Amino acid sequence: MNAFTHKPEAATPAPLVDPYGRAVSYVRVSVTDRCDFRCVYCMAEHMTFLPRKDLLTLEELGRLCSAFVARGAKKLRITGGEPLMRHDVMKLFRALSRHLVSGRLEELTLTTNGSQLARFAEELVDCGVRRINVSLDTLDERRFKALTRTGDHARVLTGIDAALKAGLSVKLNAVALKGVNEEEFVPLVRFAHERGMDMTFIEVMPLGEVDGPARVDQYLPMTSVRETLGAAFTLTEIDYRTGGPARYMRAEETGGRVGFITPMTHNFCESCNRVRVTCTGTLYMCLGQEDAADLRGPLRESADDALLHAAIEAAILRKPKGHDFIIDRATQAPSVSRHMSMTGG
Ligand code: 5AD
Ligand code: SF4
Repeated sequence: MNAFTHKPEAATPAPLVDPYGRAVSYVRVSVTDRCDFRCVYCMAEHMTFLPRKDLLTLEELGRLCSAFVARGAKKLRITGGEPLMRHDVMKLFRALSRHLVSGRLEELTLTTNGSQLARFAEELVDCGVRRINVSLDTLDERRFKALTRTGDHARVLTGIDAALKAGLSVKLNAVALKGVNEEEFVPLVRFAHERGMDMTFIEVMPLGEVDGPARVDQYLPMTSVRETLGAAFTLTEIDYRTGGPARYMRAEETGGRVGFITPMTHNFCESCNRVRVTCTGTLYMCLGQEDAADLRGPLRESADDALLHAAIEAAILRKPKGHDFIIDRATQAPSVSRHMSMTGG
């Protein structure tokens, strides 16, 4: 018995279904709130990070993920902060890979800023990871520095190359920012498609206090991104889905896919199959709502998972119908006070 194995449940418990009939099949777990970057739309320049004792241990994260898998979660996404900054995070991937082997879990994936990929790409493949999301908002080194404050652009590009070389499918994610990376939407699509990657754009969301430019000044609806791309590419609707909130189109000129994530303009909540867990074991039933459930207590109270399962069940019964983000001049405060690095991207 190693540190990650724990008693299997006697019988298979029922899958998790919320009051609106949506099955929870996708769990996103943040393993750290820390990051080596300080993206202006994500973090304040001087962030106070959580004390280490508040974080779930890797063993606790393994138990927690496994409990969701036992209850029918088919897809696990490891996020942060920057998940690859968590010390020994590969132990968690290694432990979770057994659920891929057993077939209970269909996909183990991660969202990363790419800075550590050169080091970890092969090991990720070895743990059964097949597809990853890499955040890349710009191809311009100086702009990248301005956006991420502490990021190293060349290192991210090297990381992306390493991931592709290791055989990972890579999807690039860019937050669409008015007056910042607008002129790069077309070059980003070309860059991604030339390398066989999908390119996805995301609307900026009002999550957490930041001290950069006001998000209201940077907000760009996806309709506008689509219009910009439409001038360069013939975009055709396709019904490709990855289990996440992105909607995809094909650029006929490149044959590649372009994804659009529209948390602000389009309420994608009806088909929401996701919940999120923070690195302290707080379960958020919706990215855009404050209601949450503590899972760290039940995890630490007993080595048995009965309390954990009970807490998860009770929480899912409170999953809200949807969120109501607003970005406008009257409401300069974020709709949701926690940062993306807390809840996980
Ligand atoms: N709005 C939209 N996307 C954000 N991200 C971080 N903060 C925000 C925000 N406020 C993105 C990152 C990354 C993913 C994890 O979330 O750029 O692509
Ligand atoms: Fe780090 Fe991602 Fe937040 Fe940037 S957006 S600071 S890379 S967690």
